[in-house]
Amino acid sequence: MRSNFAYDTEALWQQDRDHIIHPWIDLGTAKTREPLIVAAAEGVHIYDSRGHRMIDAIGGMWCVNIGYGREEMAQAIAEQVRRMPYFSPFGLISTPPSIDFGTRLAQYTPGDLKHVFFTTGGSTAVDSALRFVQFYNNFHGRPKKKHIITREYAYHGSTYLSASVSGKPGDRGNLDFVTETIHHLPAPNTYRRPEGMSEAEFCDLKVADLENKIVELGPENVACFIAEPLMASGGVIVPPKGYQRRTWEVCRKYDVFYISDEVVTGFGRLGEIFASEPVFDIVPDIIISAKGLTSGYVPLGAFFVSDRLYDSLTGPAGAGKYFTNGFTYSAHPVACAAGIKNLEIIERERILEHVREIGPYFVRKLQTLLDLPVVGDVRGSHMMVCVECVLDKKTKAPMPADWDVAYRIIRHTMPRGLLVRPLAHYAVLSPPLTITKAQIDETVEILRAGIEAMTDELIREGLWKAPRD
Ligand SMILES: Cc1ncc(COP(=O)(O)O)c(C=O)c1O
Repeated sequence: MRSNFAYDTEALWQQDRDHIIHPWIDLGTAKTREPLIVAAAEGVHIYDSRGHRMIDAIGGMWCVNIGYGREEMAQAIAEQVRRMPYFSPFGLISTPPSIDFGTRLAQYTPGDLKHVFFTTGGSTAVDSALRFVQFYNNFHGRPKKKHIITREYAYHGSTYLSASVSGKPGDRGNLDFVTETIHHLPAPNTYRRPEGMSEAEFCDLKVADLENKIVELGPENVACFIAEPLMASGGVIVPPKGYQRRTWEVCRKYDVFYISDEVVTGFGRLGEIFASEPVFDIVPDIIISAKGLTSGYVPLGAFFVSDRLYDSLTGPAGAGKYFTNGFTYSAHPVACAAGIKNLEIIERERILEHVREIGPYFVRKLQTLLDLPVVGDVRGSHMMVCVECVLDKKTKAPMPADWDVAYRIIRHTMPRGLLVRPLAHYAVLSPPLTITKAQIDETVEILRAGIEAMTDELIREGLWKAPRD
């Protein structure tokens, strides 16, 4: 990979400030920022506009699962563009790549989730799945079943409805949300469970939260529960052991649909194409997918739904009825061609096996950072891990948001050759799944140096000092 780029970084910064509106930008800095401009990438590395190389421990954004610079992905995409770049997916029209990809995916979905509805990304997949549930209940004469149960700190997307079922407190300013039919349970954050409570007791409590809410609303009024198996953007919140299975059982008991949002946990990040059944022992009614579905090479999302649900809508009963939901770019042929190749690469290179082997090492290695005085928790599974910085390990009080701890960390790791995801007081890691043991060692070594440098900075500025024992 050549790193002598011809980019004028200062000019790009100015044009970016003048013309580009970024998602999730602090508007106070929008006209002064000097953004990281990622100009090229190969394997697990990215190159900034000045040619500086870094390990991308973000994986793009939890998504470049097969790594960067895959020539055969470029070829599969180009071939589809040449043959037929686009045609409408609406009504009685289909394309070979979407049929082929949907058929292949059905080999991996659990239970009878053999039908797929392709969208353009994760948010539109969540939105479409929620609208599908609404359609199903109205169709079957259950129009009161409208309420949706979700959790605080969930992230399900950025359309009106998917944002409404999300629950990160920091994302709630200056926007409106659907509130009448959406209910947020407290997050099942095992690290922050009440002092003295065992993990098993905490699990009982969190399962009871769901059951109590269903009973309070009346099961006849509750449509679904939507949950990420491990809560990604909320800070890799790991529920207590058995939580996913037991909440699924509660949903079964009350005839409430269970939607598993596997946008992050799917496509190998936990060592499986879909983690719901092999890792968490559940067969949801609906699974949401995006990101790793194409390893981020081209945008695509999907929801998978059980035959039991879908088939009940088709045939004579469905005559003259339409699920009027979809997008110009649903099942985009180029995205589906990329998805097919992505799946082929995952299979051929035994990437799932690699993750199952190296994932526990990644977590263990990152857990060595727990000896640092500010690292309160290192949690996650396989290629999805969060390092949480706290004021005091005993009280678990988080470092204040205005200290910008995560950004301070990356300001120290980037010159050393590592980018992690800065989120509040967390450093989040979700690298390409092809990362090697040596690259994991390098990642952890640089992250350690970054956290140490950040801590020194806080001490020098008089913001933090080590708590007394
Ligand atoms: C669990 C989960 N669901 C849904 C989404 C939304 O996906 P997208 O950004 O592709 O719309 C995300 C994005 O980060 C996510 O993490």
